[in-house]
Amino acid sequence: MLATRVSTIQLQNPTILASGVLGSYGSSIRRVAEKGAAALVTKSLGVEARTGHNNPTVVELEGALINAMGLPNPGYKAFGDEITAAKAGGRPIIGSAYGFSVEEYVEVARGLEGYGVDAVELNLSCPNVADTGTEFGQDPELCSEVVRAVKGAVKIPVFAKLTAEVGDIVEIAKACEEAKADGVTAINTLRAMKIDVRVRTPALGNRTGGLSGPYIKPVAVRCVYEIAQETDLDIIGCGGISTGEDIAEFLMAGAKAVEIGTGVWLRGIGVFKKASEELERFMQDYKYSSIEELVGAAL
Ligand code: DHB
Repeated sequence: MLATRVSTIQLQNPTILASGVLGSYGSSIRRVAEKGAAALVTKSLGVEARTGHNNPTVVELEGALINAMGLPNPGYKAFGDEITAAKAGGRPIIGSAYGFSVEEYVEVARGLEGYGVDAVELNLSCPNVADTGTEFGQDPELCSEVVRAVKGAVKIPVFAKLTAEVGDIVEIAKACEEAKADGVTAINTLRAMKIDVRVRTPALGNRTGGLSGPYIKPVAVRCVYEIAQETDLDIIGCGGISTGEDIAEFLMAGAKAVEIGTGVWLRGIGVFKKASEELERFMQDYKYSSIEELVGAAL
């Protein structure tokens, strides 16, 4: 009843572990797989290792987070064994790639494909590090260059993770579609700030960070809906999802699956199973017999 598919990636249920949460180690990815996530995205990997930004890197709000990790990662070349360990969980692994140039995105995507990932998600939307992420995701021509180059270099499906911080996300999605992306993930975190009023200074080491959690859900739903209306892309919804009804909302807006990140912090590692069970009950109550019937139902 809950099975779905994005591009050629078959999913037992519509929940995917979002990048950046428990995705830095094969062992943690495997554990989330065993707890019910149907597929899992790694922490974003680049060509070189990075230590990330100075602390504090995360600030908690009521029910939401702002983070500026600064893309800490060991570099893709040190991640082969982690992919092998992650795959032991028996679920599709999606490698997240970032780069400071088109060539770097290609190098990381090829490297991850060589380690056996089932798909790559291009991080065209990290809000916290200069010269990568949003620098690409806010420019339709750069998006299409990265997607086209990566598509020409790998055989596995390529998803582009988009930022909502653009004038028109449909223009960006169309650029990815023309460059033959197999799908898009919408959306990444939104740039935000918290001031610690007792010390009159920004709470994060990096001053600004990416806002995630329920506050960004309506923005994400709007983006998914707009992309679904104007393109034929497979869409993975992301932003503020932690319940079965959240998933139903994204599916009805046109997503075929969803990613959960901050929902793990809100409801624990059992969120994938809990939300899937809630979705199943919702479908029974409202007489849906397949995910397909929900996808785009509100369009
Ligand atoms: C980071 C990267 C992201 O893409 C994001 O949405 C939030 C944080 C980071 O590593 O800083």
